[in-house]
Amino acid sequence: MRFHDDRRPPPPELLGLARRWRTERQLGRLARLPAAAAGTARFAVLGDVEPSRFWIWRRLFNREGVFPRQMAAIRAAPAAFVVQLGDMVEKGRPERYARFLRQLRRADLGRPYLTVIGNHDRSRPNGSSHSTLYRRLFGRANYAFDHAGTRFVVLDSSARRLTAAQRRWLRLVLDAPGRKVVFTHMPPAHLGLWGGVGPAHAIGGFTGGAREFSEIVSAARVSRVYMGHVHAFGVQDYRGVRYVLTGGGGSALFPSGAADRFHHFLAVECGPAGVRERVHALDGRSFEIPAAPVILPAHDGPRSWRRFLGSTWAGA
Ligand SMILES: [Fe+2]
Repeated sequence: MRFHDDRRPPPPELLGLARRWRTERQLGRLARLPAAAAGTARFAVLGDVEPSRFWIWRRLFNREGVFPRQMAAIRAAPAAFVVQLGDMVEKGRPERYARFLRQLRRADLGRPYLTVIGNHDRSRPNGSSHSTLYRRLFGRANYAFDHAGTRFVVLDSSARRLTAAQRRWLRLVLDAPGRKVVFTHMPPAHLGLWGGVGPAHAIGGFTGGAREFSEIVSAARVSRVYMGHVHAFGVQDYRGVRYVLTGGGGSALFPSGAADRFHHFLAVECGPAGVRERVHALDGRSFEIPAAPVILPAHDGPRSWRRFLGSTWAGA
């Protein structure tokens, strides 16, 4: 597959690879599942999976083959669908997407796989960029759907901001009774909890419209906001909403302000009794996220969930 200019149509081979993974098609599959009529939604959430463009980072902070292993574990999980929180490719180029889509095909997941756009899925991971290729391959970058009594909203924070139009749309789609869950690539930076290495991660998330975002999800009584971007795990309850950082899908585990850096995915159950998540680490161990509120002070250094996990977790 040959390189092409940013804005030219994707090569036909790539369009062919992507066709079955288009969001509209995945949502159609999801709507036809018997689980759609149930009262409890069961799904998996997987964070950043791009292994890093630079071999030295892969060598120092990553290992081979995390994504296929995560996919194999998700196949065994009680999940009707999977949401991947963005940064599926190192950079939004045709050959990178083609490689990822072939991996996805090989994973033989057997259930809908929905994507959130991350900054790496854009034409450039940092700086000015566009999302043309992602949208040509998958469809809209902001979308919502209902499944098993819950409204799910996927929101594009890949450009490190939410526009006024996005916020208006978010208010509208969250103006519904019942349970609501939001997926977005970056944490809102004002939570101040999850920093990282270099200018891309130093502020730990998106800034433009971030406070308004929190006001909107609090007013709408959203149950969960799931986020990636920072390659770690963390939980924070903020103004009635639980924010769960789950960025350990398979990307390099860079040193960052977050203490809990390990590869994992979440298996989530969202029903009348509330939302419960089980964190599945790559080594097969798992734990449930406790329901008790978590209020962490911002900017006071690394913080750890190991107190919930026991000393055997220390080497994870
Ligand atoms: Fe990211």
